[in-house]
Amino acid sequence: MFCSKIIGFESYTPENIITNDDLSNIVETSDEWIYTRTGISKRCLTTKENTSDFAINVSKKLIENANISPKDIDLIILATITPDYLTPSTACIVQGAIGATNALAFDINAACSGFVYALSTADKFLKSGLYKNALVIGAETLSKTVDWSDRSTCVLFGDGSGGALLTASNQYNSILAEDLKADGVSWQAITGGKLNNNNPFLKEKEEEAFYLQMDGRKVFNFATKTVPKSINNVLEKANITLDDIKYIVPHQANSRIVEGVAKKLNISLDKFYLNLESYGNTSAASIPIALAEMTKNNLLKKGDKIIITGFGAGLTWASMLIQI
Ligand code: UT7
Repeated sequence: MFCSKIIGFESYTPENIITNDDLSNIVETSDEWIYTRTGISKRCLTTKENTSDFAINVSKKLIENANISPKDIDLIILATITPDYLTPSTACIVQGAIGATNALAFDINAACSGFVYALSTADKFLKSGLYKNALVIGAETLSKTVDWSDRSTCVLFGDGSGGALLTASNQYNSILAEDLKADGVSWQAITGGKLNNNNPFLKEKEEEAFYLQMDGRKVFNFATKTVPKSINNVLEKANITLDDIKYIVPHQANSRIVEGVAKKLNISLDKFYLNLESYGNTSAASIPIALAEMTKNNLLKKGDKIIITGFGAGLTWASMLIQI
């Protein structure tokens, strides 16, 4: 019986850093408003690089760290809502660029839950015994889909990428339990990238906005209500308690959401790893960027149990118990 062993995390963010003060030169906002409402101070925004460039960088580092060949990779799953193109998948662009000639490759769109959905999918492939080494990447260039004249959304998001390398193992199991869900009835709470029907035979052309739109309050309430339940579901499935968990690594959307979740779970905020102050909300990239940073700072030791939890457009949510 095969399991999935996570053998590394890596991340990449672009060098171009935009502070809250920089944003206040573009829209009617202030560092004080953004920081107190969200916990965000700055974010990295792409200049020339695409989502695939970020993911290629992360993939190469993961392969190099593991001392394997790109040809050893047989599965690439890339979570993104900002692919380079609608087709081909960004995962295929990555596969070609890194020389992973033996890999199948596809994208997953589950927004800010995307990395957890992608990990869960890779886990099933590896458990089948048919695949050996999987790259699971979350990568976003959200700055391309943000309406830079809308202060209620443009201050929230950032660009970046992170990922994990998984290998099939019959000795070590990194993925112990999961809770993945969706509420498609509420899809309109966050939308972006609408494709309009403008064929020449139409009497009336569609002109719906391409840019990201969000009912912030609705998403806020959804997250504070759903995430604690999802975390409890995972704990219950694994028959353990929060005392057994070293860290909860949430999707980095808003520190006030995390405060609300901590309060509902009746635990200290210290249990949560937060780095959104420096990156903003990077959607599918936010959890793996945090995991890579924690690895670099020696916060994760072999055998530690952590919970990762994502929530966002769809609406989707996904929590997973990981053993490092
Ligand atoms: O990845 C998952 C997706 N997203 C999220 O997790 C987002 C969840 N939601 C949130 O984080 C919060 O709802 C926001 C941070 C987006 C907004 O915070 P809020 O406390 O819900 O503010 P609000 O939307 O109720 O707006 C309050 C006021 C409004 O002014 P009035 O109508 O009271 O005069 C807004 O126009 O703040 C105003 N406002 C701003 N003011 C300065 C909205 N954006 C800004 C801004 N700077 N950037």
